[in-house]
Amino acid sequence: MCGILGYTGERQASDILLSGLAKLEYRGYDSAGLAVLDNGNIKIAKNKGRLKILEERIKAGQEISGTCGIGHTRWATHGEPSDINAHPLWSDDMSVVAVHNGIVENYREIKNMLANYGYEFYSQTDTEAAVKLIDFYYKQEKNPLKAITQAIKKIEGSYCFVLLFKDFPNEVWGARKDLPLIAGQGKGESFLASDVSAILQDTRQVYYLDNMEIVQLKKGLVRFFDTEGYAKHKELSEVTWDAQAAEKGGFEHFMMKEIHEQARAVKDTFGSVFHSNKIDLGEMGLTDERIKAISQIYIIACGSAYHAGAVAQYVIEDLAKIPVRIELASEFRYRNMPMDKNALAIIISQSGETADTLAAMRRAKENKINTLAIVNVVGSTIAREADSVFYTMAGPEIAVATTKAYSAQLIASYVLAVKFAQVRGTIDELQCENLISEIQKLPEKIDEILDEKEPLEEIAQKFVNARNAFYLGRNIDYAVAMEGSLKMKEISYLHSEACAAGEMKHGPISLIERGMLVAGIMTQKDLYQKIASNMLEAKSRGAFLFVVSTRGCKYLKEEADFIFNIPETDEHFSASLSVIPLQLMGYYVAVARKLDVDKPRNLAKSVTVE
Ligand code: F6R
Repeated sequence: MCGILGYTGERQASDILLSGLAKLEYRGYDSAGLAVLDNGNIKIAKNKGRLKILEERIKAGQEISGTCGIGHTRWATHGEPSDINAHPLWSDDMSVVAVHNGIVENYREIKNMLANYGYEFYSQTDTEAAVKLIDFYYKQEKNPLKAITQAIKKIEGSYCFVLLFKDFPNEVWGARKDLPLIAGQGKGESFLASDVSAILQDTRQVYYLDNMEIVQLKKGLVRFFDTEGYAKHKELSEVTWDAQAAEKGGFEHFMMKEIHEQARAVKDTFGSVFHSNKIDLGEMGLTDERIKAISQIYIIACGSAYHAGAVAQYVIEDLAKIPVRIELASEFRYRNMPMDKNALAIIISQSGETADTLAAMRRAKENKINTLAIVNVVGSTIAREADSVFYTMAGPEIAVATTKAYSAQLIASYVLAVKFAQVRGTIDELQCENLISEIQKLPEKIDEILDEKEPLEEIAQKFVNARNAFYLGRNIDYAVAMEGSLKMKEISYLHSEACAAGEMKHGPISLIERGMLVAGIMTQKDLYQKIASNMLEAKSRGAFLFVVSTRGCKYLKEEADFIFNIPETDEHFSASLSVIPLQLMGYYVAVARKLDVDKPRNLAKSVTVE
């Protein structure tokens, strides 16, 4: 994970870097640091903990002036969060100073090799090995480009480096493999960043670096090289999305703001593929012929994106009658599965940078399987490497716990399900029209649920000291239970498990204790009675029954401790509504426990390490 930045220009680098790092803190917040190059001297300020500690130290007078510098916000992989392991890291004479995102897998081997030349190591990081390897090559010819190209040929793993060389004033260097790096072009200044949001206040003119590219920044000048050191031409892109969208807009937390943006995310995502009263997937290369030929679908993703895929599995199978397998990317990447050449792999990822998802997609491509990525971040690695892309229109998502991107992923999968069903003739035109009209009504219904959220805040207070919870469902409701349970545990630290309701009796039921929160999701009419029985089994063992059910469901009226009714919709699309009260429950319990909702401990927004 980690967020990295570089700047060279006329302004004070520390100001630019601190404000950019604030936008990147979602990528990790175990430590923060800056290095600034000034008159042949490199000054460093870094510490364990949040960026605001660093900001306070600099405000209090830590000397860090200069107009060329690099910055870092860390999610620790090698070495505990500490001042010494914080980035930037340096070579012994400070010739080379760098920040790094990613993992140097062969760092032990590199350290052993360098130790033979007298190098010593002061941190527990893998990064220090890479910095000193670059320094080793740099010492030979004092040529940054040669040093970087030689080093990255030796380094294994995935990485982005942003570097300063003491003898090269006003220059910042960078290199990437598998992790994102963006170069920004301003007037008389230039930038490097892990993510566009960090430089958007300064420039909208950006270059997306490709794998194994090296970049050199000078004031207002950006140059690219390949691993042989040859200069490369790249096209400048204009970023069109709104920087305001990344601010809190009056809400206490980004998560609550993003929960309220779901109706818009759903509407925009659907609107992006609905033209002249038709679902149009032409831009994704999904012609009718191609759709008819699909023999099998693999949906591959991690975390909440996987949960969205689990909903998609039920919906696509039921509407389009295509067999669908849902796969955890971290497992899929190491499976040796025979795959049909006419299969379609649907890759779901908000960030488009999740390491396992990217590796799994590459594996599908190695098997000559066509890949379609459902991605939120434009220009991300998965978006660029997939055969085709369905962009969700959630806009920048800042809270670590996803909400609006998940909702947009659901819509993308409904669109695919309906279109596949229509083309393959498993639904008729009237059914297709009705399904589309139901999707179009979802934004209004989501807002209706949000208008009725108040009682959830009160109920959440009951679980401030709770230790365990269960989320039960069947079919689509089980897929939503997984997401509801993850939302609860990741931000409130209340241990929670989702269980396919029918599985309770096969073991998990022994965990039920008096007062324990058991949430049941009931949106599938044919299964109302079944899930009601499972909930009653929990009730008779003392559970507190929290039910999310469709208006009109008559079950558990007497027995439930709390019922939240959601508006009726076509049952295929119920996840878009039932997930809202579950997101809110997670949020309210976390707030009641006074936790850092937007930045839960140990997590980062984009998991770019394995
Ligand atoms: C949970 C959450 C994560 C992500 C997962 C995949 O709220 O956000 O579980 O869904 O890390 O990330 P992306 O979608 O960026 O591939």
